[in-house]
Amino acid sequence: MTVSSAPGKVYLFGEHAVVYGEPAVPCAIERRARVTVEERTDSKLRVHAEDLSIDGFTVEYGGDADGRPDVDVAESLVDAAMGYVEAAVDQARDAASRPDAGFDITVESDIPLGAGLGSSAAVTVAGIDAGTRELGVELPAEEVADRAFRAEYEVQEGQASRADTFCSAMGGAVRVEGDDCRSIDAPDLPFVIGFDGGAGDTGKLVAGVRDLREEYGFAADTVEAIGDVVRRGEAVLMDAAEDPDGEHVAELGDLMDFNHGLLEALGVSSRSLDAMVWAARDAGAHGGKLTGAGGGGCIVALDETEESETALEFTPGCEEAFRAELATEGVRVESS
Ligand code: MEV
Repeated sequence: MTVSSAPGKVYLFGEHAVVYGEPAVPCAIERRARVTVEERTDSKLRVHAEDLSIDGFTVEYGGDADGRPDVDVAESLVDAAMGYVEAAVDQARDAASRPDAGFDITVESDIPLGAGLGSSAAVTVAGIDAGTRELGVELPAEEVADRAFRAEYEVQEGQASRADTFCSAMGGAVRVEGDDCRSIDAPDLPFVIGFDGGAGDTGKLVAGVRDLREEYGFAADTVEAIGDVVRRGEAVLMDAAEDPDGEHVAELGDLMDFNHGLLEALGVSSRSLDAMVWAARDAGAHGGKLTGAGGGGCIVALDETEESETALEFTPGCEEAFRAELATEGVRVESS
């Protein structure tokens, strides 16, 4: 039996625009998905999932259960979670040249599904790592990231960047621009997260931005403007890493505000995400923005004080507010 875990992430800058080749800077956070894999003697796949914002459920493939979970939860959430697990299993089988390997898999996660904190990437990364190790193959984190990207790309029908999966596999802060992925230095930023209890449909939101970008030149310019914000943000982040006591965190906050405005213009924010961003700003945060695909889910703000977290707790529509620390470690084996 092998257990691997991988962290979720927030986007400091650049979601959506990264799909069109602009740079993005996601940061891994200390909320992890854990995947337990045990090889079976047959080639069946049995998946048990817990804590994915929904009641636990079990799905059996190739067994008598006919591939459907016997639980009363939204089918789209089950399908989404299972799509990533199945794609991760395919990658593990391929990496170990064991196309017929069967597994019992348990997925546990502190990262809400579809909420912009990289739950699917974390499950995919941890699943590939645990699955390959269970078959006696140890992949470098970069290869786990690459295989996880291919798995996400397949599930999201070609609409995925390398940002989420690379960040989850490597940990820390990363910079992704097309196929160019690298780790970058970052100070431990004072992240505060607000979660509205909901989830966005990444595929639909990405398709919406694509359509706008094709229809209007100024929407394409907005995507490029996000790239400019990211380039400026990267330079400020580098200064902040060298001089954590300077004014750099305040400027990062201003740039996050700008980034949120541009995402809002692209139609991927929502009333509750805007309300949470404004609650944090009014409470004195350096800045705030939605994180991930949008439509619902989470915002991230920068605030060293308790004020933004408290304000978010009292904001109608905010279900949970919490601090998140930078996860310096990416995918790791927990036991084998
Ligand atoms: C989703 O977490 C981030 C997006 O930029 C899509 C992607 O990068 O694959 C919206």
